[in-house]
Amino acid sequence: VKTAAIVLAAGHGKRMHSKVAKQYLLLKGEPVVVHALRAFEKAGMDEIILVAGADEVEFCKRNIVEQYGFTRVRQVVAGGKERYDSVRNGLCALKAVGFAEDGIVLIHDGARPLVNGEIIARAVDGVREFSACVASMPVKDTIKAADAEGFSASTPDRSTLWQIQTPQAFRFGLIYRAYEKVFAPGTDRSRITDDAMVVELMTDTKVKFIEGSYSNIKVTTPEDMIIAEALCAHRVQ
Ligand code: CTP
Ligand code: MG
Repeated sequence: VKTAAIVLAAGHGKRMHSKVAKQYLLLKGEPVVVHALRAFEKAGMDEIILVAGADEVEFCKRNIVEQYGFTRVRQVVAGGKERYDSVRNGLCALKAVGFAEDGIVLIHDGARPLVNGEIIARAVDGVREFSACVASMPVKDTIKAADAEGFSASTPDRSTLWQIQTPQAFRFGLIYRAYEKVFAPGTDRSRITDDAMVVELMTDTKVKFIEGSYSNIKVTTPEDMIIAEALCAHRVQ
């Protein structure tokens, strides 16, 4: 079966407080999103869709896809207001080129430059076995829920808690239909933060956790760039 990756780079990166959107900040001299794209290119995905800000599509075609020679990035499409809008645009772009229902699609944050071939392979295998899976790792910190006044309300058992990363990987037909449903008029999308949630809310398919990596961080706040630089320097590949 065919494999595809949707790499998301249409956010504004507000929490990074940088002039340039975080996905274009340089890591070892190359934009963050280039590191992410290279992992999927190297992994031999049949098709890569890059989702960029509406004003950055042309920039990405020239200065990312052409400049770095990504031959598997077939389309650069415009994203939307929220992450789920951007994902939907990527899914529609795959639909438009006739990507098969039983094809495997990996959805990845362009702000996770340290994804690697092992994680990608586990995600692809995870879909073969379970139809839906997400890269994840056990949480290291204790997680508590707060009440409205900022007092501790509860402490879920840490051994049941996982931090969720990307890639999030699915049979194409499953994720496409789940997104169609969640975009039906009247559906409340305000709490949706990842793709697994869309499948959890809109289908009966259970989402399997597969092993990500503690290095597979999402650059979100300024200190994450320092951590990513350090991790990049120690990378064995
Ligand atoms: N993303 C996207 N389209 C959006 C929002 C986010 O493609 N409308 C992408 C981002 O570019 C990023 C990934 O989704 O690669 C994860 O989102 P996040 O870390 O929240 O990035 P931003 O939304 O850009 O950052 P912030 O929330 O701090 O503004
Ligand atoms: Mg965001």
